[in-house]
Amino acid sequence: MKTRYSLHIQNSMTTRLHPVLRCAAIFALLPLFITSCKTTGGPTNGIPVGEFASLTGGTATFGQSVHNGDVLAVKEINDAGGVLGKPIDLMTEDDQSKTEDAVASVQKLVNSDHVIAVLGEVASSRSMAGAPICENAHVPMITPASTNEDVTKKGDYIFRICFIDPFQGQTMARFAVNSLGKKRAAILTDVKQDYSVGLDDAFKNMFTFLGGVVVSEQSYSTGDKDFRAALTSIKGSNPEVIFVPGYYTEVSLIVRQARELGIDVPILGGDGWDSPELTKGAEQQFNNTYFSNHFSTEDPDTTVQLFIKKYQDTYHTVPDAMAALGYDAARILADAIKRAGTTDSTKLRAAIANTKNFPGVTGTITIDGQRNASKPIVIIKIVNGAYHLAQRFGPNGEPMSSFQP
Ligand code: PHE
Repeated sequence: MKTRYSLHIQNSMTTRLHPVLRCAAIFALLPLFITSCKTTGGPTNGIPVGEFASLTGGTATFGQSVHNGDVLAVKEINDAGGVLGKPIDLMTEDDQSKTEDAVASVQKLVNSDHVIAVLGEVASSRSMAGAPICENAHVPMITPASTNEDVTKKGDYIFRICFIDPFQGQTMARFAVNSLGKKRAAILTDVKQDYSVGLDDAFKNMFTFLGGVVVSEQSYSTGDKDFRAALTSIKGSNPEVIFVPGYYTEVSLIVRQARELGIDVPILGGDGWDSPELTKGAEQQFNNTYFSNHFSTEDPDTTVQLFIKKYQDTYHTVPDAMAALGYDAARILADAIKRAGTTDSTKLRAAIANTKNFPGVTGTITIDGQRNASKPIVIIKIVNGAYHLAQRFGPNGEPMSSFQP
């Protein structure tokens, strides 16, 4: 069976191009993707599933990785006969890492492409922007990776397959106090991202609950490049640890600038750090940093190792957590369509809600009554640019392994 993928790049450069040139432009822009180009819109023979992702822009590696994971899963599903006797037709929209474009992307998928479900987004703010459109149209949306607590509160049709930030922030606070033995923390937050603000809150509450003191709270905005003023102020407060719950583009600069200013304490973060771009050219400066994440390539579990092998065979690179989450989200959707036996939105919604003990690469996934997933979490330690598993915690915050310094 032939697998088809649709890729629509919604930016002014490519939409003005002839389809053949557009295809060439897409290949030039996105060399790692297994994809073929198809003109947008029109009836499809397969089951149309939408995906909105940041294939370009400030958090491009999130979109590219999640797309790779989605495509790999769809290819496997279609190669095995598809669902309900049809292939899945993945229709992808690039929101360029912008909230406004996330809205336009989901509107197009829902209103023009008539997708039966939507996969995305990664960043919580963009998932929250797209969710009301899916909710109003009763099109189930599954975000693979948006961890902000409020995302799934947007409505009954909005699901996630990852853990949430209260859990992630609390775990990092436990790790800082109990594993690293630190009691004085500074926090540097991206006030433009719901993700960052939510994670900051969760960390702070648990850190102080455990007897720690937050000695400095500083902020920045997505797109900022110079963090020296905030970091100088943080340095003056003499913290033992710094929590930076941001995305890799800014964190990459923050850690470099902190080290240049002579700040050598451990710097901690969340899943938003996970990108091949994070440490590039600054591998040493990232020593003594830790971040929480959804999966570790050092996990000996056979499901994880098989996924890593398939991903590497296909894309010739090691998958990050985003890729693993994209792969899990697409497979969970396909599983729900099969169990529903139909793409009818009410029945499909109910089948997704009924997902139980799904054997994901990012852990065993059960969707709870709030349409969230309760899962284990890993803490990654960065050593000379390489990610090592430092500690693992269970869904209730209990350590599942001892800290490996
Ligand atoms: N959890 C982040 C958010 O909600 C997104 C993210 C997930 C980034 C996984 C990297 C890896 O915005």
